[in-house]
Amino acid sequence: MLNHSLEQRLRAAVAAILPQADLSTVQVRPAADTKFGDYQSNALMALAKQQRLNPRQLATQVVEKLDVSDLCEPVEIAGPGFLNFRVRPAALAARLAEAARGEHLFFRPAERPRTLVIDFSSPNVAKPMHVGHIRSTGIGDCLQRVLQLLGHRVISDNHLGDWGTQFGKLLVGWKGQLDRTALASDPIGEMERLYRVVNAACEADPAVLEQARQELVRLQAGDAENLAIWKEMLRLSQDQFDTLYRRLGVSFDHTLGESFYNPQLGAVVADLLARGIARESEGAVGVFSERTLPPKEDPFLVNRDGEWIDDPALVRKSDGGFNYMTTDLATIEHRIRTWSPDEILYVVDDRQAPHFRKLFLTFARWQPEAAGRVGLRHIGFGKIMGDDGRPFRTRSGDTIRLAALLDEAEERALAVVREKRPELPESEQAAIARVVGLGAVKYQDLLPNRQSDYVFSWDKMLALTGNTAPYLQYQFTRAHKVARDGGAYDITALDRVVPEDPAELALTRHLLNFGLTLEAVGEECRPNYLCNYLYELAVLYSRFYENCPVLKSEGDRRVLRLALCDLAARVLRQGLNALGIETTEVM
Ligand code: ARG
Repeated sequence: MLNHSLEQRLRAAVAAILPQADLSTVQVRPAADTKFGDYQSNALMALAKQQRLNPRQLATQVVEKLDVSDLCEPVEIAGPGFLNFRVRPAALAARLAEAARGEHLFFRPAERPRTLVIDFSSPNVAKPMHVGHIRSTGIGDCLQRVLQLLGHRVISDNHLGDWGTQFGKLLVGWKGQLDRTALASDPIGEMERLYRVVNAACEADPAVLEQARQELVRLQAGDAENLAIWKEMLRLSQDQFDTLYRRLGVSFDHTLGESFYNPQLGAVVADLLARGIARESEGAVGVFSERTLPPKEDPFLVNRDGEWIDDPALVRKSDGGFNYMTTDLATIEHRIRTWSPDEILYVVDDRQAPHFRKLFLTFARWQPEAAGRVGLRHIGFGKIMGDDGRPFRTRSGDTIRLAALLDEAEERALAVVREKRPELPESEQAAIARVVGLGAVKYQDLLPNRQSDYVFSWDKMLALTGNTAPYLQYQFTRAHKVARDGGAYDITALDRVVPEDPAELALTRHLLNFGLTLEAVGEECRPNYLCNYLYELAVLYSRFYENCPVLKSEGDRRVLRLALCDLAARVLRQGLNALGIETTEVM
């Protein structure tokens, strides 16, 4: 958008002065302080330093070659060589007119679309999805939506935990103590119970543990009965996951669980051994530190009592079973072979950071060429805390099921809607409560910097004022209603009128930054940028609405203001949608 046009022209001017300069560092960003302009660039200072030039002199020369007079007031050089751009109201109006004509909504598809695999949600089979799963699911879904909107090719893959030692215990439980009635009414609850009972029995009695081990071996060897039970557990879990994903509006292109990679694991380990990347140790097979990194930065070492000792990436256990790591190695290989991605993003809890560091380094050692072509990124996140400062749980200390949490969100939202809008029919109240309740939970989770822990608070997330989903959804309804009440407008008037009132100008300038916000979210994988952008948009819209009469104004001014309402509503809706949050027309 505008910053891109300015950037292109600035690059051309720099190239005219310094033909050999690396232009990729020449960027135009929104101004940190709008007192000095709308956009700024500090690129010339770094360039001058590199080339041993006087920065102000370089800036003066570049500005002489820089032709942006159709877009900006004369470019100002500030301090040691900052460039400040102040966009002319006419150029702002031109962008508004383009958007009103439907040419864009203040963002454009990426010039160089990338292919990205996003690994997110990835819950474990036979266990309920709990409140913590909202994080990976919500952040991953937002990234999927934003990157898609920007025209990238996105492949979402739900890496279900559908294989592993837990199935030995589950099989013992299923065969010995399955309660069919309970299974019919709450399959996940029943599987969870079976696991708990057998797990406790294993701790008390080694014979049960041995039984579980044998069931697992039989499953892994392809025993028909065990496979059939495992498949049933998978199906029941998948039903539960699907219900939740439907409710959350989340979808995946692929669901290739860990079990999908079973056939490859033996070959992965054999190859790692053959290439000397892994070695045997105490019957197991692992990848060890190469001792090339400082110990503090080496994920294959841990400090025990002041001494650095090996903490290998295990790829085969002493009993012959394979590890989480082995599956993840096979998974990278499969993804590269199948989709040739530029990047693979893993949206997973920060507690798994050591796992991913080991994984990425091991893969780079194993397949250096392939690793050179793909960016592997762990998109980590922190915990959800209760107001007692401990991880968020029920009063009795159990994990909170996601389904129950979403029910409660809708119920609490319904109470508010009933109070504020008693005149609405019940079905409409419920429809609003669904959108508001789910939106509130999702937004609360996307708003903080993802790596911070945050405190779960019903009161805060459901508040109608402040930086919350209900506030944004409410401002959307207002803007949308004004635009609708205003009816059709003559778009050609936008060629004759420019924003003048400070509130009109501020709102217009902010609308223009939608695209660069989406780009920043996509690049840094930070949904909070979009949350804060939308909140500011809502605040600026409401300030505009208080200061500038819309329906009562006349002529071209009325068209401009109606267009602002309409476009603010559209950006709010599109932005919320990119966060995975719905809007409603009445609230
Ligand atoms: N199932 C895992 C868990 O619940 C998360 C998997 C993340 N993805 C991956 N490729 N390791 O902890």
